[in-house]
Amino acid sequence: MSEDLKREAARKVLEEVRPGMRLGLGTGSTARHFVDLLGEKVAQGLDVLCVPTSEVTARQAESLNIPLSDLDALGRLDLTVDGADEIDPALNLIKGGGGALLREKIVAAASDAMIVIADSSKLVDPLGKFPLPIEVNRFGLGATRHSIEAVMAAHGAEGGLRLRGEDKGAVFVTDGGHLILDAFFGRISQPEALSRDLLDIPGVVQHGLFINMCGKAYVATPDGVKTLGNSN
Ligand code: A5P
Repeated sequence: MSEDLKREAARKVLEEVRPGMRLGLGTGSTARHFVDLLGEKVAQGLDVLCVPTSEVTARQAESLNIPLSDLDALGRLDLTVDGADEIDPALNLIKGGGGALLREKIVAAASDAMIVIADSSKLVDPLGKFPLPIEVNRFGLGATRHSIEAVMAAHGAEGGLRLRGEDKGAVFVTDGGHLILDAFFGRISQPEALSRDLLDIPGVVQHGLFINMCGKAYVATPDGVKTLGNSN
């Protein structure tokens, strides 16, 4: 059921894709449906040029013969389509559950528009139940961890900080060669201030709060796909 809903949201956003567009391709199980459907359109002759947000998405797109490029060549993109782990009423997001948040944020920031596709389980108010992924440099991990914990305490975090993969015996490494600390806030009442405080820590490469980046979301419910946000 959930996969069907994700696919419906992905099908809806496909209506926004025009010939000649330069697209950012998101990462995750919902974005995967979009890339699948885009591949069908490309096979039918749709002309697009795409920048993937992860190696996984790049491999999927290559397998579907979707033409790929990069931001060095293109500089700017027309539209990025991606999933999200949480979406608040202002369309601020938590992303990075799949570990691709750095490239996802770089690609979204280089895009004229970002549309998120999701099922309604991702709608929250406020953000924070989903652990916030924080991508960090390997160097100085202990010190970075300590600084993040201090920021968490200042922002009233209800839980702790966990190095992704540590409990499974294999630490997760991002496409950029960094590590991810998952921060259990419970609720995030001041996302902008939290974003600034985290980015002030030298070892923090990026975090999964996407603030004022997403203009529209297609959210699939059992009653159909709902549009949240602007209509451009
Ligand atoms: C990948 O790093 C993430 O940001 C995903 O976009 C996000 O976790 C949503 O994934 P699903 O569509 O699999 O829920």
